[in-house]
Amino acid sequence: MSQTLHTNEQAANASKQRILTGITPTGIPHLGNYVGAIRPAIESIQNSDHDAFFFLADYHGIIKCYDPAIIHESTKAIAATWLACGLDPERVTFYRQSDVPEIPELAWILSCSCAKGLMNRAHAYKAAVDANMAKEDVDTDFGITMGLFGYPVLMAADILMFNATHVPVGRDQIQHIEMARDIAGTFNHKYKPLFTLPNAVVDDEMPLLTGLDGRKMSKSYGNTIPLFGESNSQVSSEKQMHKAIMKIVTNSQLPEEPKDPDASAVFEIYKAFASPTEIADMRTQFATGIGWGDAKQALFDKINDEIAPFRARYEELMANPKELEEILQMGADKARRHSRKQLDKTRRAIGIRPLAKLK
Ligand code: TRP
Repeated sequence: MSQTLHTNEQAANASKQRILTGITPTGIPHLGNYVGAIRPAIESIQNSDHDAFFFLADYHGIIKCYDPAIIHESTKAIAATWLACGLDPERVTFYRQSDVPEIPELAWILSCSCAKGLMNRAHAYKAAVDANMAKEDVDTDFGITMGLFGYPVLMAADILMFNATHVPVGRDQIQHIEMARDIAGTFNHKYKPLFTLPNAVVDDEMPLLTGLDGRKMSKSYGNTIPLFGESNSQVSSEKQMHKAIMKIVTNSQLPEEPKDPDASAVFEIYKAFASPTEIADMRTQFATGIGWGDAKQALFDKINDEIAPFRARYEELMANPKELEEILQMGADKARRHSRKQLDKTRRAIGIRPLAKLK
């Protein structure tokens, strides 16, 4: 896997890394999430001796999603998905952001030394302002909450709380990691060097899957292939996946006509699951003429080979939220062993501490 470290720190690579990343629970995981984030993250963690912190960023979720049922269901489905796909909660500190109250406390403290001007430059906020400015008679801050404006500060608290050295993120999040460095630097300089400057890690080869309609696979386009299916459906999740794959748009070429694999979403998704020999073989089949139905069936079989073993565990966890909750509480306990200490140091550094010892 080729990764770029977005940093100017040399020390970052040297000793043991502390990897941390957050997943915002505002949707049900789809194949694009699996290939782009879940599978690579689990693989890289299981095969290293680095410290790892993975969490459900539910306080970030409520910035863009106002539907309590979606936040709740998505938290459950994402936790079950990561665990079913092989995340070992003994090995990785796996928790829910809202179970660690020290994080929002730290966010407040950091916001008090973070320049407002820095937040004015955040892409997400600027895009919302630009959209308002493009309209007539609309206030530039129309519909923009303090949550959206301060989003990068909460994210900085997530990261700085645990002194993470490496933060795997999508390209769109690099600016936020840079802001976390900036926020850490300001605090360290003003008070005491308490916070490690984090580095964004971006996977340059991260495959962006194409969705059912030919656009990038994304929840917001409604063109995704579900990873495990909707849990409230009568149809088995395997059948749901099969049905979605059969719906991938293709051109109207006849079965025996030679087809261009590189212009096909079916082939592109196949590549994310198959071995090099299987990929070469499929390329030949496209050239010599394979029917779209057969190509889609081969794609389904390939994906299903990999996913089927996880399905039973996913369904078990979804049916047994108590087990999920216990796992998340265990993670929160582990996380809070760090966060209590770090918050205590931070408060002392800014002058907030008990006036005297009692007893
Ligand atoms: N903002 C991130 C996203 O949308 C999610 C996130 C929240 C996160 N806190 C984080 C990622 C801390 C890395 C580190 O993808």
